Amino acid sequence: MTTDDKTKVSDFWNRASCGEALFLLNTERDGYAQHARLRYELEPFIHEFAGFATAKGLKVLEIGVGLGADHQSFAEAGADLHGIDLTTRAIEHTTRRLAAFGLTSGLAVGDAEALPFADGTFDIVYSWGVLHHSPDTPKAFREVFRVLGRGGRAKIMVYQTWSIVGLMLWTRYGLMRLRPWTSMREIYDRYLESPGTKAYTPNEARALMSGFEDIRIRTVLTHGDLLESGAGQRHRGPLLTLARRIWPRWLIRRMAPGMGLFMLIEGTKPRGDAPYHSPA
Ligand SMILES: C[S@@+](CC[C@H](N)C(=O)[O-])C[C@H]1O[C@@H](n2cnc3c(N)ncnc32)[C@H](O)[C@@H]1O
Repeated sequence: MTTDDKTKVSDFWNRASCGEALFLLNTERDGYAQHARLRYELEPFIHEFAGFATAKGLKVLEIGVGLGADHQSFAEAGADLHGIDLTTRAIEHTTRRLAAFGLTSGLAVGDAEALPFADGTFDIVYSWGVLHHSPDTPKAFREVFRVLGRGGRAKIMVYQTWSIVGLMLWTRYGLMRLRPWTSMREIYDRYLESPGTKAYTPNEARALMSGFEDIRIRTVLTHGDLLESGAGQRHRGPLLTLARRIWPRWLIRRMAPGMGLFMLIEGTKPRGDAPYHSPA
């Protein structure tokens, strides 16, 4: 892990924030409203997981705000809100978006691995599809734990290793290039979104949540696994267009409901005084 690794991540997301190329028509109020509509149509499970409806008056930190749809939802719910992102592009989008809707938040460029907040500051730390992009993901999880107050809840989505998306990428970049020995680790690292992206098994996620209690982990099939949308901003082409036409969605839903790309992780920082033993 080097500073260069993090520069590559920030360079990637500074070219286009997540969803920008596919879902953002313009950077005005109507453009952001449409982005939110499309996002929540494709990922309806975000509402319940994030808990927007119960965030009123809570101190909430979102790590990796991206285009800012979830940040807007927390602000609309009346949370006492802060948000960071590694890129100026995401912070500019989210600032512009909130201003367009008359909302406010403490937004700043910042790094998940070195959060600019004191210990025990927040009731909720929320992060959707972010910490697996950061070079030192365990460090980012430890930071989430640190800035949560006792009894505070972490809500984090990271990618799951044994997902349909992962297997599609392995077929395309391993098998079809006659390199079937290519590991899933290399597949996510090189071919899904920013360089160095990682994915985790539920057991590995549990280890990342060392120190938390009341841990809940579940996976969901996504529009990516089901090829129900334009794929991520890196993937295009006739093969994908063909696959989208013949994709056996019903079979995947029936036979592989646990092979979704998204792993939704929750945990509570214990209320007692027990010291936190960070994972090795
Ligand atoms: C896939 S996007 C997700 C954005 C948003 N949460 C969403 O769901 O649309 C990943 C975001 O994480 C940010 N990011 C990556 N590494 C980060 C880090 N170490 N600290 C803060 N943000 C980071 C990127 O800049 C990018 O905006």
